[in-house]
Amino acid sequence: MDLNWKEGFTIPTGKLYPFQWNWDSGFTSIGHSHFNLDFAIQELASLFSGQWDNGMLPHIIFHSEKEKTYFPNYDFWDANVNAGAPHKPKTSGITQPAVHGFVLESLLERFPDNEKLIAFVKGIFPKVVKSHRFLYTYRDPEREGLMFIFHPWESGRDNSPLWDESLDRIEVKKEELPPYERRDTSLAPKDERPTTYQYDRYVYLLQLGKNNRYDELGIFEESPYLVQDTLMNAVLIKSNESLIKIGKRFGFDVGELEEWQQQSIPKFQEKLWHAGLQTFAAYDLRGQQHIEHKEIGGIAALYANIPTEDQAKALNDYLQSLHQRGYYICPSFDVDSPLFDSKRYWRGPIWPQMNWMIYHGLKNYNFTDTADIVKSDLIELVSKLGFYEYFESQKSVAEKLETGYGGGDFSWTAACTLDLLKSNGHI
Ligand code: SER
Repeated sequence: MDLNWKEGFTIPTGKLYPFQWNWDSGFTSIGHSHFNLDFAIQELASLFSGQWDNGMLPHIIFHSEKEKTYFPNYDFWDANVNAGAPHKPKTSGITQPAVHGFVLESLLERFPDNEKLIAFVKGIFPKVVKSHRFLYTYRDPEREGLMFIFHPWESGRDNSPLWDESLDRIEVKKEELPPYERRDTSLAPKDERPTTYQYDRYVYLLQLGKNNRYDELGIFEESPYLVQDTLMNAVLIKSNESLIKIGKRFGFDVGELEEWQQQSIPKFQEKLWHAGLQTFAAYDLRGQQHIEHKEIGGIAALYANIPTEDQAKALNDYLQSLHQRGYYICPSFDVDSPLFDSKRYWRGPIWPQMNWMIYHGLKNYNFTDTADIVKSDLIELVSKLGFYEYFESQKSVAEKLETGYGGGDFSWTAACTLDLLKSNGHI
């Protein structure tokens, strides 16, 4: 984490991700708080320096305009076509899971009486609420209580097979796409990263946003990819809950947050539960149907206290069965699907920050045995293979490996491991 600290913020890993990423920063802030509260605070302050006038918290903050190892860089996003985007720092034009409410709660739990932290939380609280208001206003225009994403990068689970069908709807004519050159595949193994077919569609959707000057109404009308995602909505609900607690403590009006919760929790529970799959499933607003796959976003609902007791039991049973079958838990995608790929980014590997959330979720429901497996699986992988971005999920394959997948020296891997070790008094 020290290695990746860049005077005010932390990059996820050198070269592959050389800027500040939105949800990475949330987890990294929790990690820093274990040994440097100032860094934890600065991390979040830097991130919110990129917030747009409409409340949108961008998924990348390009603090440096000189760094050239990443595509798409600030110039390709051209976020300033939107009058409400900051000129400094430059940013991307999409968002990511709204983790910052629960991050603040976690920092306050550790330092309940620290004056510097309290002053910081009071100052940033309205900005975090504003980022949620953006999601409920512009990403839920029909006022259902569930927000949508218009780009797979927003979900954090870029190339999950969840999005395959929706992305297939996009017919990409090469001559209509701006020319672009990927950098990621020269910095990480190609078979651990998304495909060219997927990147063409990522660029297509980026262009669609830019052509609309990132105007949300235009995007809502035009985007062929419009999804009410499980993870995005679960994280938002969890952060609402945290902000309500924080707001009550410091005397903020929490009425709006409570209204969001009253609508969002039952809607999530009813609309996104898929009885056949026995898990929560994302909803494709263009196709008007569930995206019928078992995957990790549905399980993350545990972290937001969304599932009923029966729903939670089904999720716990599923995790236990994967454990019995020789998988580290929890793989990011359905191991029984032909689309499962245990090494390719979000199509099957283990992701540290997901284990962190699922661990806490299982604890909420008193599934302590499973929670302990989720925690020790991550610690085992990190101990054996290093602080990688993601990891092999089949134990029989991981046994023969010497490294994890994607980027190395990865900030949120260090942060989540440290927090999990510390929270149970291991160190
Ligand atoms: N995760 C994406 C990437 O790989 C962007 O957020 O670049």
